[in-house]
Amino acid sequence: MRAVIALAALLGSVLLSLCLVWLSAEGSARGWEKDARATTDGTPRVMRSLRSPSAPSQSPTNRTTPNQFGIQKSEQPLKCKEMWNNNWSSSIKKKRYSEDYYLQIVGKLQNCTWKRRPQEYARFRSELAACCDATHNFITSQNNTPLGSNMSYEVDNKKTIHITEEIFRMLPESQPLDYPFKHCAVVGNGGILRNSSCGAEIDKSDFVFRCNLPPTTGDVSQDVGNKTNLVTVNPSIIAQKYNKLNEKTANFLENIETYGEAFLLLPAFSFRSNTAASFKVHRTLKEFGAKQKAIFFYPRYLKNLAQFWRTKGVKAYRLSSGFMITSAAVELCENVKLYGFWPFSKTAAGTPISHHYYDNQLPKPGFHAMPKEYNQILQLHGRGILKLQFGQCLAN
Ligand SMILES: *[C@@H]1O[C@H](CO)[C@@H](O)[C@H](O)[C@H]1NC(C)=O
Ligand SMILES: *[C@@H]1O[C@H](CO)[C@@H](O)[C@H](O)[C@H]1NC(C)=O
Ligand SMILES: *[C@@H]1O[C@H](CO)[C@@H](O)[C@H](O)[C@H]1NC(C)=O
Ligand SMILES: *[C@@H]1O[C@H](CO)[C@@H](O)[C@H](O)[C@H]1NC(C)=O
Ligand SMILES: *[C@@H]1O[C@H](CO)[C@@H](O)[C@H](O)[C@H]1NC(C)=O
Ligand SMILES: *[C@@H]1O[C@H](CO)[C@@H](O)[C@H](O)[C@H]1NC(C)=O
Repeated sequence: MRAVIALAALLGSVLLSLCLVWLSAEGSARGWEKDARATTDGTPRVMRSLRSPSAPSQSPTNRTTPNQFGIQKSEQPLKCKEMWNNNWSSSIKKKRYSEDYYLQIVGKLQNCTWKRRPQEYARFRSELAACCDATHNFITSQNNTPLGSNMSYEVDNKKTIHITEEIFRMLPESQPLDYPFKHCAVVGNGGILRNSSCGAEIDKSDFVFRCNLPPTTGDVSQDVGNKTNLVTVNPSIIAQKYNKLNEKTANFLENIETYGEAFLLLPAFSFRSNTAASFKVHRTLKEFGAKQKAIFFYPRYLKNLAQFWRTKGVKAYRLSSGFMITSAAVELCENVKLYGFWPFSKTAAGTPISHHYYDNQLPKPGFHAMPKEYNQILQLHGRGILKLQFGQCLAN
């Protein structure tokens, strides 16, 4: 029995720690603000200028855009369109996720100019709203969790937890996030962020999501920013690094200072073994009057989300937390940009990179479900629903 629990906890922590890690050495053609910020009629400037007959310098059949080094790069709209039509994703499947083959395709995608597509965005958002409804159900609240009810766990789904008065009082009355947000950054922890100079751009976002209590101070902040509005917490870190907060409380509180008034988001109701540590975080923050607030994923939201992605071919045991957050961000934000999502061991140019931007832990051998998630993210990028930052950010 103990072995089973230990295995479940281990699996949970391994999967949770895969906060998604990903990107490459090429800069996008322009800053995302210019790409994503819609004009008053809701059409991105880029698209308008493309359609506008008064823009003769941008011939739609052979447009050039300066890259980060100011080099004019010629695009082949037809090829890009083909890529966006996504038949590359089936060819990736055939190759069984060989990293080099995958990188080749991603390298090609990087050379296509990204355009926000408001209609695609609206369509996808309503699909997500119909299945999962992050606006009401992302977070466990008093609204979606009646006092005295028995709530099912996300993964240990034969187990329930009785919502006592004490638990109920830990929950926010309703959804705590002040959505909709205009511009959101979802920051993965990929080694690709090193030397990216993306910090300033990330910090300009209205809402910044991060995963797994990553470092944001010191040298790294120019690459990853230091603003955090929501950060996920893997309960196994609480167990390992802070001895379940039975001691080292001061240490923990000091370390999370860097997240300002952020929400710490915990999967309290995913595995039974997560519950006590998650509650302990909540109580500790409260007891010491910390600025941060602990909130909990709503287990049914995560179940519905897994089901949603399963129908699209992501048949993971559990989604990575980065993918969960990304999905929620699409519902909660008007513009979503992803940084540090790069599940490869090297850049598109072939330079080896570390697994995380803050440590040199080698990527796990094999490719697991990550490429399936990454495939979906590339498709969302291609459809103009969110933007994936491929490599260094431009200084504006
Ligand atoms: C497009 O650009 C390429 C490379 O700069 C050039 O060789 C080609 O002649 C151009 N084609 C058209 C139709 O302008
Ligand atoms: C995509 O489909 C077109 C036509 O169906 C085909 O010519 C092309 O080779 C395909 N591309 C990939 C990458 O599979
Ligand atoms: C992307 O564009 C650059 C610059 O034009 C070119 O050198 C590179 O080969 C392209 N990459 C791919 C994969 O097409
Ligand atoms: C919750 O579960 C307990 C024990 O498992 C049971 O006694 C109780 O009736 C259940 N409550 C509800 C509302 O289903
Ligand atoms: C980052 O840039 C510095 C200075 O240019 C260089 O010394 C360092 O090796 C680079 N680090 C990575 C991970 O590329
Ligand atoms: C982020 O860095 C800026 C400038 O370096 C600093 O003023 C600000 O206080 C930092 N924010 C946080 C949350 O640490």
